[in-house]
Amino acid sequence: MHNRNNITDNIFWVGTNDRKTHLFENYWPLPKGVAYNSYIILDEKVAIVDTVERGTMETYIDNIESVLGDRKADYLIINHMEPDHSGSIRTLVERYPEMKIVGNKKTFPMLERFYGIKNNLLEVKEGDQLDLGQHKLNFYMVPMLHWPETMVTFESNNGILFSGDAFGAFGTLDGGIFDDELDLEYLEEEISRYYSNIVGKYGRPTQNALAKLRGLDLKMICATHGPIWRSHIDDIIAKYDKWSKYQTDEGCVIVYASMYGNTEKMADNIARQLVKKGIKKIRIHDSSKTHPSYIINDIFKFRGVILGSCAYNGDIFPSMETVINELEHMAIKDHVLGVFGSKSWGGGGLKRLNKFAEAIKWETIEATPEALCAPHAEDFDKCEALAEGMANRLKDLYK
Ligand code: FEO
Repeated sequence: MHNRNNITDNIFWVGTNDRKTHLFENYWPLPKGVAYNSYIILDEKVAIVDTVERGTMETYIDNIESVLGDRKADYLIINHMEPDHSGSIRTLVERYPEMKIVGNKKTFPMLERFYGIKNNLLEVKEGDQLDLGQHKLNFYMVPMLHWPETMVTFESNNGILFSGDAFGAFGTLDGGIFDDELDLEYLEEEISRYYSNIVGKYGRPTQNALAKLRGLDLKMICATHGPIWRSHIDDIIAKYDKWSKYQTDEGCVIVYASMYGNTEKMADNIARQLVKKGIKKIRIHDSSKTHPSYIINDIFKFRGVILGSCAYNGDIFPSMETVINELEHMAIKDHVLGVFGSKSWGGGGLKRLNKFAEAIKWETIEATPEALCAPHAEDFDKCEALAEGMANRLKDLYK
């Protein structure tokens, strides 16, 4: 068939590309779209692995038909119940009423609550195997990667891991489906932004999952989003290992909230001083312009974080409040933090940032400049002290 996408002689990609949706989970920007990957294994028994978000269901059903024709599906493996993968289950159940739905004990209550499905269930536990004929599916639980019911499915005869969201990426599959068919440089930020935004809160569960998967002889990783990994398996595993240990590089992310440019002047001054003191990798973001998605992604890359805010009605500026709420929510670890601000009267920006510093428990830099109305020479001196404290600490950590 002209539109079949073979992964092996008997395993097929039947996923879809979504270039219409602006926000993943209705929050995270998708400038390069997203793919929902689903797979079919043809054997004595036929298994479908995960489904797609319901908005692309028509294409999905076409893709399934191009592989199955008149054959019926015997099993649907549900590695993850988030609706971007479970959204088409009800349609598949209507199409293949005899099909058994394979999940674990945490899958099925969600299946019933989301879709009212409670029949034809096959519960699997850690290490269980499902025999399709030539293909043997082995199930491993990976709770909180990134939902409690998540599991992965390992096809042991071909060494193929159906990994759910783990090793996934934003970005559609433009022409290629394998990592060596796609422009990975073009997708680089979408790969790390997917990890940092979607999985990043769950560093420990990711480490637990990696420890479990280390024993498997992996030839291919088929995630539910992004490229199928076959030529860069070690690389993507190494990245996940580094990210989930919160390991970062020498560099500093400066985020500021500024209404009329005074706090921004302080941010630029701090950045200049950092560069003069030898810190070359600097990323500056205006919290009112850049979505937290990109800020969080940069913070996953670099050890230094400097946050500055003007005051607003006796508190912090709203767009910076959003950033620090996100950082607290994600519970990102192991950074060096500097804070600064400006006020025209009672203040509030720096005060809130200091509270954030206490809550997040990162190492902090002592100097905390706060300009009155506009920064003057003495404020820039304090900015320099903040930059110097940060540069010295980073140099010390990366010597
Ligand atoms: Fe891609 Fe957690 O769903």
